[in-house]
Amino acid sequence: MILVTGGAGFIGSNFVLDWLAQTDEAVINLDILTYAGNRENLAALTGDERHIFVHGDIGDSTLVTSLLTKYQPRAILNFAAESHVDRSIHGPEDFIQTNIVGTFRLLEEVRAYWNNLQNDARRNFRFLHVSTDEVYGSLTKDEPAFTETNRYEPNSPYSASKAASDHLVRAYHHTYGLPVLTTNYSNNYGPFHFPEKLIPLMIVNALAGKSLPVYGDGQQIRDWLYVTDHCSAIRRVLEAGRIGEVYNIGGWNEKPNLDIVHTVCSLLDDLRTRADKKSYKEQITYVTDRPGHDRRYAIDASKIELELGWKPAETFDTGIRKTVQWYLENQDWVANVQSGNYREWVEKNYAGRAV
Ligand code: NAD
Ligand code: DAU
Repeated sequence: MILVTGGAGFIGSNFVLDWLAQTDEAVINLDILTYAGNRENLAALTGDERHIFVHGDIGDSTLVTSLLTKYQPRAILNFAAESHVDRSIHGPEDFIQTNIVGTFRLLEEVRAYWNNLQNDARRNFRFLHVSTDEVYGSLTKDEPAFTETNRYEPNSPYSASKAASDHLVRAYHHTYGLPVLTTNYSNNYGPFHFPEKLIPLMIVNALAGKSLPVYGDGQQIRDWLYVTDHCSAIRRVLEAGRIGEVYNIGGWNEKPNLDIVHTVCSLLDDLRTRADKKSYKEQITYVTDRPGHDRRYAIDASKIELELGWKPAETFDTGIRKTVQWYLENQDWVANVQSGNYREWVEKNYAGRAV
């Protein structure tokens, strides 16, 4: 079996669902259930014995050791993290704790476990660390996309904490020989995306008749990857990635934020026309920019394509349509994640921003 951390979050839950749809290999899912972790994402697996959910912290060494001893996983996939840039600006502490200290503690327990494995079990074991393109910093409009050899230049507390975790993972390979794989992804989107992030926030706010807050001039560029393409890339890297290597993974879909918001509005105009027949674009407002806002991310995914033969299956047009449709069909999920905690976050992040 495999051990997945953070498997109740956006990407982790998509990965667990996708994994168990593709294979019968069981998954232990270790997740502390922060505001971003949601067992409802995994409701389709209720009663499925191939999925073992454990509520706990990657930084809890005793718990991690007991899971490794009991289940003897052949691989660990580390998705667990604090993941939202704006939250890291308001309060970096949790990011340092989970992304750096948590990853360190996890690595320590995994190293001890791997050291005790024998023969094939030891040879075949992998620790796959899920990271982000944000560790490379910001690109100007004309610079080439990030390759695996770009310098690390993280600009937010979030990306700095992810960069630190990447460095720890690298060091555990270089120093102790731990068989690691690191994947650096561009912006994911799709089902179960928590509505603090751009795409789900815009869908949810549009349908609620609220404003659509675009930071600054809306011309910041992100490179969008549909989440199931991310899942297939992880499966491929786990299967055939070279130990100690880094793989950049993106969708070849660079888009300015404002284009994304316009696309979401146009799809909603078609699929859920406003009562007054006007476009949802009327709800767009320009608000004070994010401090230290990175201008552009772009991933050069040539290495994984050439070495491992992976390519994304979705275009942005197909992926965004599926995403908008999913939110329209899952209004109960949307209502359930908009707890008091969520409303407090919206107030904290948006109330002080001048329009
Ligand atoms: P998310 O915030 O939706 O989910 C994170 C999950 O980790 C949650 O279920 C949370 O409960 C869990 N978690 C947090 N701290 C934990 C701890 N100490 N112990 C155990 N579980 C803990 O994040 P996501 O968007 O699904 O991102 C998953 C991973 O992918 C992260 O490592 C993130 O940095 C990386 N990533 C995300 C994107 C993206 O666009 N969302 C892109 C590139 C990389
Ligand atoms: O690049 C990968 C990263 O993508 C991941 O590592 C992060 O975990 C993930 O959250 C994401 O980070 P971003 O900061 O790019 O995502 P976010 O959805 O927060 O913002 C996307 C862009 O939209 C960014 O330029 C900021 C802008 N934005 C965001 C929000 C929430 C707005 O204009 N308005 C908003 O209200």
